Amino acid sequence: MKKLAILVSGRGSNMSAIIDACEQDRISASVEIVLSNNADAKALSIAKEKRINTVYISSQTHTNPEQLDAVMRNTLLKHNVDLIILAGFMKKIGPKVLSEFEGKILNIHPSLLPKYGGKGFYGMNIHRAVVDAGDKESGATIHLVCGDYDDGKILAQETVTLNEEDTPESLAKKILKIEHGLYVKTIQEIIEERIIL
Ligand code: GAR
Repeated sequence: MKKLAILVSGRGSNMSAIIDACEQDRISASVEIVLSNNADAKALSIAKEKRINTVYISSQTHTNPEQLDAVMRNTLLKHNVDLIILAGFMKKIGPKVLSEFEGKILNIHPSLLPKYGGKGFYGMNIHRAVVDAGDKESGATIHLVCGDYDDGKILAQETVTLNEEDTPESLAKKILKIEHGLYVKTIQEIIEERIIL
């Protein structure tokens, strides 16, 4: 049975989908720890209600970035995690965590990377850029995490089609809907070694 850490900053709908899938054996793993850099994240209270270990670590709890990175690495090591799942985690992963868990950190991003990724492409900015460009499709991407935002080997993608009436808000909803299933499926495929990291 693999052990997962989920890193969150916000509402945590992807986190909830992954927790549910673990509970229902659609993912052969257990969620050992939910880590947030935002004390007020809805995801943290959802995880606490589910009696999952939670931890809040941020630049406010640890003002020195190196120390913050080390505390994160030690927390993840303590829980013996096999995979680290970023689910709406909006901070860069530090070099200590990256080198300790190289090739074991996944992220989901709401665009068809490499399009609309990197600096400035977060939240509604992504979907606004897609709609403004007149793109006919967008989607979600799961990729390995390396040092840069939204970079790293692409592991899975799913496409949604835009229609004339789509707004950034409607597109965001459409994509979020497919993210949950895509993340659950991809994590299980990694565990079953049908996707090799
Ligand atoms: C998701 O749409 C995810 O793709 C995005 O944050 C949202 C989190 O929603 N992540 C990024 O933009 C990463 N660059 P959730 O908290 O409901 O899972």
